[in-house]
Amino acid sequence: MARDRILVIDQGTTSTRAVVYDTRLRPVGQGQVEVPPTYPKPGWVEHDPAAIVDSIGRTVSDALADAKVGADRIAAIGLTNQRETTVLWDRGTGEAVGPAIVWQDRRTADLCRSLSGRADWLAGRTGLLLDSYFSATKLSWMLEHLPGVRTRAESGDLAFGTVDSLVLRHLTGGKLHATDVTNASRTLLMDLRAGRWADDLCEYFGIPPAILPEIVPSSGEVGRTSGLGYLPDGLPIAGIAGDQQASLFGNGCVEVGQAKCTYGTGAFLLVNTGTEVVRSTAGLVTTPAATPPGQAQQYALEGSVFIAGAAVQWFRDGLKAIGAAPEINPLSEEAAPDSEVLFVPALTGLGAPHWEPEARGTIFGITRGTTVPDLARAVIEGVAYQIVDLVEAMNADLPTPLESLRADGGMARSDPFLRFQADLMGLPLHRSPQTEATALGAGALAGLGVGLWPDAGAVAELLESGGEAFEPRRDRIWRRRAMRRWRHAVETVRRHYRTG
Ligand code: G3P
Repeated sequence: MARDRILVIDQGTTSTRAVVYDTRLRPVGQGQVEVPPTYPKPGWVEHDPAAIVDSIGRTVSDALADAKVGADRIAAIGLTNQRETTVLWDRGTGEAVGPAIVWQDRRTADLCRSLSGRADWLAGRTGLLLDSYFSATKLSWMLEHLPGVRTRAESGDLAFGTVDSLVLRHLTGGKLHATDVTNASRTLLMDLRAGRWADDLCEYFGIPPAILPEIVPSSGEVGRTSGLGYLPDGLPIAGIAGDQQASLFGNGCVEVGQAKCTYGTGAFLLVNTGTEVVRSTAGLVTTPAATPPGQAQQYALEGSVFIAGAAVQWFRDGLKAIGAAPEINPLSEEAAPDSEVLFVPALTGLGAPHWEPEARGTIFGITRGTTVPDLARAVIEGVAYQIVDLVEAMNADLPTPLESLRADGGMARSDPFLRFQADLMGLPLHRSPQTEATALGAGALAGLGVGLWPDAGAVAELLESGGEAFEPRRDRIWRRRAMRRWRHAVETVRRHYRTG
């Protein structure tokens, strides 16, 4: 039987997905299981690591059944994941010592503030900002607050990992404790240029180096399945990347200056900067890009905002204003044309380029006449405004301004949303031919990792075709006025919540 299918596991913030691709990178089957995070206190966001692991077998089996293929057709497995989310487990049993602390969790905001004297040094070494978004202070918190954990960590009994490491441990029957370079780079513990854990960074955050996984490349075989039951032993795991780096690759952004925005739980704008490590002066972070085998390490500049699809989820689950997420689109089109309701979606603080962890979501402009459709429109427009802040920050950091943007992820399926986004940016926006470019990118990395195609150029051809373009239709005066109102609203929110 020909091994002509690629299986991708995409473990995201609210669900686990598995997708089966053929060798032309067309999706031929998929499965999805919801794995919702919990919100035990204001600003806290957690996951049950056992629930993440449990979701994998079911999702993979559903995807294979949907694709109508047996596991004997799988040539390679790719893995992509929510980044920064921090897990600590017993090396022997694999049992987690507590809930995973999710990337959106803000419980270490005070700790970050107390360390802010070294922010510049940290940015130079890691490409990141000192913010509770990244893993290091989440891990420090676990070592500090969970009983007995520091002693167990120091004696080598515990293992730390982001979600890729957790899933890799599961897939390999506990044989592998590894993470890829894109995930490792989000911890504040990796030297960005060297691509290695740095002793001085570990010491700074009080992290015993013995708990860290091995850093491996994003493409190439790193291990094989073992002891799973739902998959045979011996299938190669050959592509791993954090979800945003995977979707940069899946969007075909492999040339310098090519950029994408993925609208998932949060929204993440990345631009490829080639082999150059660009240091931001505008509130962005620098990160390795997923790099095909045999090529020099590529990098990207990234703007991360914490709330995109999560705002729509809040509108659905918190306000109970709609029954299903896509209903927000037709509802928003019923908004009064002159409604000036504006929503700053800082539900878990503001990320790039503002970095205000204590900020909270705020609605401006409510009148006696404001309706649910007006709010619906404000919710989706609030997501788009944040992206324009990122584009402007990118343009401040890059030698040449962005010329266009590719869009993928759940909200990229909405025409009214993309139209508004293109109008507000004043740039053409291209919807990816496959709006799940994250899984696609991980599939491409895995296929390259086992030599399914001769080189990255052959993959780029498979990724190129199709998609849809949204051209900006509004003039500069309209854009300026809209952005002026937005900036004023963001400044008001920052001032109101600023405590540091
Ligand atoms: O950095 C967080 C990011 O990796 C989460 O992505 O798709 O779950 O919003 P997503």
